[in-house]
Amino acid sequence: MLKKLTVKIKKMNSLYITTPIFYVNGLPHIGHWYTSIVTDIVYRANFLANYKARIQTGTDEHGQKIQKTAEDLSESVMNFCNKISAEFFKMSVYSNCACSYQNFSMHNFNCLENSIKLLNEDKIKLFNNGKNFIRTTEGREFSNGKITQQSIESGRHIKYVLKFWEKLKKNGWIYKGKYSGWYAIRDEAFYSEDEIIDGKAPSGAPVEWKEEECYFFKLSAMQKILLAIYQNYLNFVYPNEKFTEVISFVAGAKFVDAKNGNFKDGSLLDLCVSRPNLTWGIPVPDDEKQTIYVWLDALTNYISALEENEYNELWLNRSANSTVVHIVGKDILRFHAVYWPAFLIAQHYTLNDIENTHNIDEIVQKSKSILPDCIVSHGWWTNNGEKMSKSLNNTVDPYIEIEFLKSSGIANEIATDYFRYFMAKAMPFGNDGDYSRQSLITTINSDLANNIGNLASRTVAMCTKYLDGKYSLKYANNLQEYTTKYVNCIEKYGILQAINIILEIANNTNLLIEQQKPWELAKSGKITEIANVLNNALSQIFIIGVLLQAFCPEIAGKILNIFTIDFAIKFNEIEATMNAKQSISIVNVPNICPRVNH
Ligand code: MSP
Repeated sequence: MLKKLTVKIKKMNSLYITTPIFYVNGLPHIGHWYTSIVTDIVYRANFLANYKARIQTGTDEHGQKIQKTAEDLSESVMNFCNKISAEFFKMSVYSNCACSYQNFSMHNFNCLENSIKLLNEDKIKLFNNGKNFIRTTEGREFSNGKITQQSIESGRHIKYVLKFWEKLKKNGWIYKGKYSGWYAIRDEAFYSEDEIIDGKAPSGAPVEWKEEECYFFKLSAMQKILLAIYQNYLNFVYPNEKFTEVISFVAGAKFVDAKNGNFKDGSLLDLCVSRPNLTWGIPVPDDEKQTIYVWLDALTNYISALEENEYNELWLNRSANSTVVHIVGKDILRFHAVYWPAFLIAQHYTLNDIENTHNIDEIVQKSKSILPDCIVSHGWWTNNGEKMSKSLNNTVDPYIEIEFLKSSGIANEIATDYFRYFMAKAMPFGNDGDYSRQSLITTINSDLANNIGNLASRTVAMCTKYLDGKYSLKYANNLQEYTTKYVNCIEKYGILQAINIILEIANNTNLLIEQQKPWELAKSGKITEIANVLNNALSQIFIIGVLLQAFCPEIAGKILNIFTIDFAIKFNEIEATMNAKQSISIVNVPNICPRVNH
């Protein structure tokens, strides 16, 4: 009798990682570039660690802020959105983020020039095909901004938002009421009386008093469950200090007498989820006078962007080692760590389920698959120590910075890599960072030009001189350790720590060469010893190339070219690739990391 075979298909670990979708009220600046670049770095590193990785970005185009900006410029709001959204797409291309690639793969891992060429050739086509780039106005007529019937029936975003709203309503979470309180158009956020500081929102945005009819979401009923979720999922918000802020907000803890550490528990207020008399948004089903609150509309992009099978695979049915992560700036943490999970729970449970449950733990356990795993909050850039803002006219324009690098004779794609590297290095994840051109130059010259680039060129030169350009790579335990440590850092969003591992390898290898002095060994004809040192150094350089791929794909590509490799190398291919490189002719790749002269 034939034995019954049960074939177990092991699910591949996955990562679904998103940037916030960007408001189109102004041109992209360094803060937006930063969010995109760090998200891309984590995405690329996971891709290399053999995760089934998916990255998502886009633009947030509805709401009063956008409508008002377009009106102030006397432009039609749809035209205005088309124009600025295209600038954000261009940012994805120019910052070499994988979300701008039509098909990201091992072979086009470093193809900035190619993407730029495509963008210039057929901007609109590329833009519309951007699967990983969603616009909340998708499904409107490109010319006049009218929502098309087709988008309501089968489009990607608007259809989903309407479905999302209907489900919240059906589950009993939505009721009509009257809002009286503060509203900040700049933040598109409602604030309670006690959050107002000197007549302004906590973010410093001007506020307006509003008394208007609207629909409310019963957020107050979510308080217990949210707190239970935070308690069970200790990594729900990163970094920890930010998690504490989120928990205090939800617990409604307010200091009565801060000096004596006295605080009282408060309640979580219901959230207004529609706005009357606002035309630029998605109308509330069956109530044309109301428009869905722009944050409810925007947050759903994280799901509306996915096809149903992707949503099932990457989100709802993900394996225990798979992750859904939203990277956001600290200013928008509350929307992601409080409102978004509340909306998601309300999709799956009725108000009655939550209010009358005797088993909160069971709901918490079941909620794991419907919620993201982690909201990662990053800090803000300041400019030479000053807060960056349009009104102070001191926002940094990355194109100008990249042009500056190019004016130093540096090729376009390397300049982009330099900028990416600086973004990741200069602002430890979670902290704020200060931008100055001087520190851009110093960081690049010391880490990339003097350390990594110089190490690669001198080693290749010595290999050519003393070993007739022949080398063999050797896979060693310490290389395995480095890679494992690096992956662990990335998994914990330790971007800076991951960079430091690469620098540590480069420092150690430079030291090895200084100590072993191949030029001295050559004087006494010690060819075997020279081969030992240089093969060892080249093996380390190879690993530097592999690990640098996530940060500086173009420079990493050049380093791998030394070893006649012209596509990306995943971490699980390191050993086999190295073993295959025995008695091979080295390729001299000139000027891997040129210095920035100023
Ligand atoms: N549209 C909302 C997000 C909706 S997500 C469902 C939004 N857009 S934004 O364009 O204002 O901001 C996008 C991202 O850029 C945020 O993560 C924000 O923190 C980041 N930055 C904007 N200015 C910044 C700095 N000066 N420094 C670092 N990042 C900052 O919010």
